[in-house]
Amino acid sequence: MRTLLIRASESALLQREISQRRVTRSIAMRFVAGETLDEGIDVSRELVGAGRTVTLDYLGESVTDEREARTAAKAYVEVAGRLGQEGLPSGVSVKPSQMGMLFSPQLCLELLGDIAAAGERTCEHLTLDMEDSDVTEATVQMVERLQAQGHRYVGCAVQAYLHRTAADVRRLSAAGASLRLCKGAYAEPAGVAYQSRTQVDANFARCADYLLREGTYPRFATHDHRLIRYIRRVADHLGRGRDEYEFQMLYGVRPALQAELVAAGYQVRVYVPFGSQWYPYFMRRLAERPANVAFFLRALVGR
Ligand code: FDA
Repeated sequence: MRTLLIRASESALLQREISQRRVTRSIAMRFVAGETLDEGIDVSRELVGAGRTVTLDYLGESVTDEREARTAAKAYVEVAGRLGQEGLPSGVSVKPSQMGMLFSPQLCLELLGDIAAAGERTCEHLTLDMEDSDVTEATVQMVERLQAQGHRYVGCAVQAYLHRTAADVRRLSAAGASLRLCKGAYAEPAGVAYQSRTQVDANFARCADYLLREGTYPRFATHDHRLIRYIRRVADHLGRGRDEYEFQMLYGVRPALQAELVAAGYQVRVYVPFGSQWYPYFMRRLAERPANVAFFLRALVGR
């Protein structure tokens, strides 16, 4: 089911069908702040008022032409400016494939450099989302190159389901990059990725151990309360303060757990996606939890 939904997230036909329906749009908005920057900012203000920080994602991915990539980069420059005006404790998350990574890594580097320069004073971080394993190495190199250009606040996500991730964590930590550790949301073959939940969780814990010992301000992106408990315990044991790392969760997912962590004095950052290109993002959220699919199908049938 998970693989099927992830494959469906890549279908242009389904995207057209599902994006246009009012009922699906309204369900998707459980996970998406809205289609405009103003809506993204409104949600961010509310979250900040509730003690959280945010990272904004202008939705879009796998672009196939330069014009589209440049338009998306311009939108991110606008986001960075707006975050500065609003004075929100925030950063941005960007998908390399939205910046042309799939057809021109050089263009991607140029556009990410523009965004990094624009956000240098207004954003707390610029994190490259990690997409499927075809672009993992290129994304890691992008972070290294941006770091080498002096954009020290640039980092990326790393996925615990990939065999290579423990090595990437060491490599990028050595470059000084702040990393977001997540489980991984794409469908990957056994040749590159752990297939069982137990293996993925164990690798998450191993990478978390390293990041808590050696990493630059680690960002743990999970809603898994067992892993969160584990991270808290290890951090306490190592004497890493609650302001020296953060938890990250997705907008619309486990808000009560977010509130609980905030009340206990932990840093919690919420990933706030906005924009009209929400279809693939939404499908990945459905794939993460069977109950979401059941809810979605019930809503479709009952419309
Ligand atoms: P797990 O899937 O085990 O879920 C634990 C519990 O959380 C579930 O039992 C359920 O209660 C709740 N939950 C999780 N997902 C839910 C959902 N969609 N809807 C409702 N409840 C849900 N991936 C990637 O490949 N590249 C990336 O760059 C990122 N970036 C990223 C940023 C942030 C801030 C987060 C939180 C996650 C990502 N991810 C990601 C997604 C990540 O890889 C993973 O797919 C999801 O976070 C789900 O895994 P959990 O760690 O939450 O555990």
